Amino acid sequence: MVTLDITKASSFVGDAAISAFESRVAEAQKSLEDGTCAGNDFLGWMHLPSSITPEFIAEVNACAKTLQENCDAVVVAGIGGSYLGARMVIDALSNSFGWLQSTKYPRILFAGNNIGEDYLSELIGYLKGVRFGIINISKSGTTTETALTFRLLKTMCEEQRGKDEARKVIVAVTDAKRGAARTTADKEGYTSFVIPDNVGGRFSVLTPVGLLPIAVAGFDIAELVKGARDMEEQTSLSVPFRQNPAALYAATRNALYQSGKKIEILANYQPKLHNVGEWWKQLYGESEGKDGKGIFPASVDLTTDLHSMGQWIQDGERTIFETVLSVAQPNHELRVPNDKENLDGLNFLAGRRVDEVNKMAELGTQLAHVDGGVPNIKFTIDRIDEYNIGQLIYMFEKGCGISGLLLKVNPFDQPGVEAYKKNMFALLGKPGYEKETEEIKARL
Ligand code: PA5
Repeated sequence: MVTLDITKASSFVGDAAISAFESRVAEAQKSLEDGTCAGNDFLGWMHLPSSITPEFIAEVNACAKTLQENCDAVVVAGIGGSYLGARMVIDALSNSFGWLQSTKYPRILFAGNNIGEDYLSELIGYLKGVRFGIINISKSGTTTETALTFRLLKTMCEEQRGKDEARKVIVAVTDAKRGAARTTADKEGYTSFVIPDNVGGRFSVLTPVGLLPIAVAGFDIAELVKGARDMEEQTSLSVPFRQNPAALYAATRNALYQSGKKIEILANYQPKLHNVGEWWKQLYGESEGKDGKGIFPASVDLTTDLHSMGQWIQDGERTIFETVLSVAQPNHELRVPNDKENLDGLNFLAGRRVDEVNKMAELGTQLAHVDGGVPNIKFTIDRIDEYNIGQLIYMFEKGCGISGLLLKVNPFDQPGVEAYKKNMFALLGKPGYEKETEEIKARL
């Protein structure tokens, strides 16, 4: 269950300003549904949850089992939409200190999301002598960060296991036909999964892009998909505006944007949700930041960041609003012990749940931020588990599609991402970029 409370946002802009979006939200939803909106060749995510079959889940789980049986670590090579979703879910569901314990599932490592020579050298150092496998994820199959990392890891895996054994633990998730990742997978005979043409990277967590790594980490992908499927229903066209969390969220954030709030800060009070913020930033930033428009998505981990960013949020330029991700019930119970001497003065908390302290910090912060001029949107999920995270994923995806259309941008392309690549290829002298190389040299 995901619930949404916008009362502390509507108190800033007025309920009417939010209701004013109702008919445009309906139009946006209809155009998403009948495929007439901008970017309509990338709407495969819309009915993805309800179209995933038990047979497909079984196929992904079977591949995950092979990796689990043959690997102590699995490196997920991917960047942007090709890793953030898996990372978010795995981090949210994993024991916070799991990496210190030995588990029956392989340790999941992420690479291919940077070009840091130290990072890659240290990864290779760590993997020396470790039975590791690779999931190479790239929709285009040509992304430099991922391709470079995969080349390093493939070489190492083949050296350690021999080519025949290596091909059993290397899996590709890529386009059906195009790109170097597809060519390599077909030529080497890797198990592979297809990223549907009509699902963009940042909307792909419920394809094998996310599902395979999540399954390898030992989590229940059927429940994740079930949560998303139920949310697909709860955000469908027939659900009234005020009862549809994706529609109401999209309208509220656009009403706030119109009133001059240009930055949205996603705040969590559970360290495990840190990467929800990273995934959400890509989803909203890459979908909306175009044509000189778009809310800037930022994120904070609270209460941690109240001791670093708290001052700015409370008192800085009043161009921000806050969206809080609250968890109703923790998965563990821990109470504050009594201390006879009460040296730290904390006996007023003795016997009370740590979560009560956290919740009062959350409430106190919300009230303080509202008093300080920061509108507040609040999502609550029951607990952190596969079902609830699945709900959240789909709700944010649907909210993003609607919101981007309200903003009158194409939420499903990302032309701006190409600019740095063109310059990098020109600077590195990539074949085919000779003209750009000349131009860029003239500028240096
Ligand atoms: O959302 C997107 O489309 C991007 O962030 C991509 O996921 C990212 O650039 C990686 O691309 P690819 O999967 O083609 O390697």
